[in-house]
Amino acid sequence: MTSHPHRIVFANEKGGTGKSTTAVHVAVALAHRGARVVAFDLDHRQQTMCRYFENRAETMRRRGIELPTAHCHVVEGMDEPAMDAFLAANSAVADFVIIDTPGRDDPLARHAATTADTLVTPMNDSFVDFDLIGQVEGESFKVKKLSFYAELIWEARLKRSRTSIEQNRAQMDWVVVRNRTGYTEARNMARIEQALTEMAKRVGFRVAKGLSERVIYRELFPSGLTLLDKGHLGDLGTSHLVARQELRGLVANLRLPDRLAERIPEPAQ
Ligand SMILES: Nc1ncnc2c1ncn2[C@@H]1O[C@H](COP(=O)(O)OP(=O)(O)O)[C@@H](O)[C@H]1O
Ligand SMILES: [Mg+2]
Repeated sequence: MTSHPHRIVFANEKGGTGKSTTAVHVAVALAHRGARVVAFDLDHRQQTMCRYFENRAETMRRRGIELPTAHCHVVEGMDEPAMDAFLAANSAVADFVIIDTPGRDDPLARHAATTADTLVTPMNDSFVDFDLIGQVEGESFKVKKLSFYAELIWEARLKRSRTSIEQNRAQMDWVVVRNRTGYTEARNMARIEQALTEMAKRVGFRVAKGLSERVIYRELFPSGLTLLDKGHLGDLGTSHLVARQELRGLVANLRLPDRLAERIPEPAQ
């Protein structure tokens, strides 16, 4: 029996939190480890993730090089059952499925989020971003009210815990990734951490450190390269060594299953 691909969904109904950038980097990091990765872009207007992979393919062609990469499919004009069928048909031999979603309320994105094995919600260090998950009380940071979105994920997990035993699937792991972190005043940072800890307890997610704000993440898009493509990036100096470590740290913090170790060897031809 082969296990189904591990599904990682990047979702936050806000734009600009780094969903697509993080999705591409995690996909490439997994491909670099030898995993078979298939990507689905539900943001059919912007298509940032698929455009990144197109740029990557173009760089490979132009330079005559091979880089670990992922097939990327745009999901457009489908309803939920059609999307489920499309995903299943295009990921039969994948180890990981990466799903990027638009930064707006979107029924397909919500459906995708409820089917995640790992749900990654990138957030910037700002209280404005917290509203997506719930409203916090101004003094104590206790959670006053869960957002519709948090309720949706809660329901999906409940439903799944009822069926996961039969399906042999683990619970959904919801990871809020603090992204695009930069210089935040220490007092403000401590407040944000306190509020996030309160929310994490109530809502049932865990918090992981994501990517800091760095120009390099924007600059690499046209070439489709990532910080992991050593030897193809030119001379980037030492700050990028730190960035590469940060990226490896993010992937480690996602605690993804080791699909290569689990893979059943294919019979010799
Ligand atoms: N860690 C980062 N450092 C600097 N710029 C970033 C970082 N993450 C994303 N960006 C830039 O911010 C913009 C929005 O990021 P994107 O990944 O497209 O977010 P989303 O998919 O959530 O809308 C893009 O221009 C992207 O290049
Ligand atoms: Mg995006």
